[in-house]
Amino acid sequence: MNRRKAFVVKAIEQPLSTLRNHHDVVGLTRQLFCSRLLDKRAPFHVAVHNFDGKLINRVPGEFHYTEPHAHDVWELDLVVPSSRNFLFQFEVDGEVRFIKTASTLLVPPGVEHRMEVVRGTGMMLCIVCSGSYARSLMNRFPNRSGKPRRR
Ligand SMILES: [Fe+2]
Repeated sequence: MNRRKAFVVKAIEQPLSTLRNHHDVVGLTRQLFCSRLLDKRAPFHVAVHNFDGKLINRVPGEFHYTEPHAHDVWELDLVVPSSRNFLFQFEVDGEVRFIKTASTLLVPPGVEHRMEVVRGTGMMLCIVCSGSYARSLMNRFPNRSGKPRRR
């Protein structure tokens, strides 16, 4: 394989529920842009979550479609609001924080996290620094006390 040769990977629609620890929800569509599932040469997992504003009955601090998990590589999440009422939340090591403006969330390897839109329209671009999302998931990762635990 010529590692210096550029290549194109065509995106597909893929339900969120195809990922472990994630569930489908009204108001969210997902496109998988890059992954070893699409091309075995892919060095990254890249997906876009589109939020159409139809998510209802959302309470800040409550999570509905992602469960805490950790990767053995970095994860970057570019949060891109497109409405004034946009609110995005993430939980890292048990602490919930909120994003209202265009931002990048950077999650180091081994850090427990989850993130969801609360309200508004926009998108999140998720980059996991591994071609295989599934293989990047850690079965055991440190909890808030620093001790490993089993999921
Ligand atoms: Fe993640």
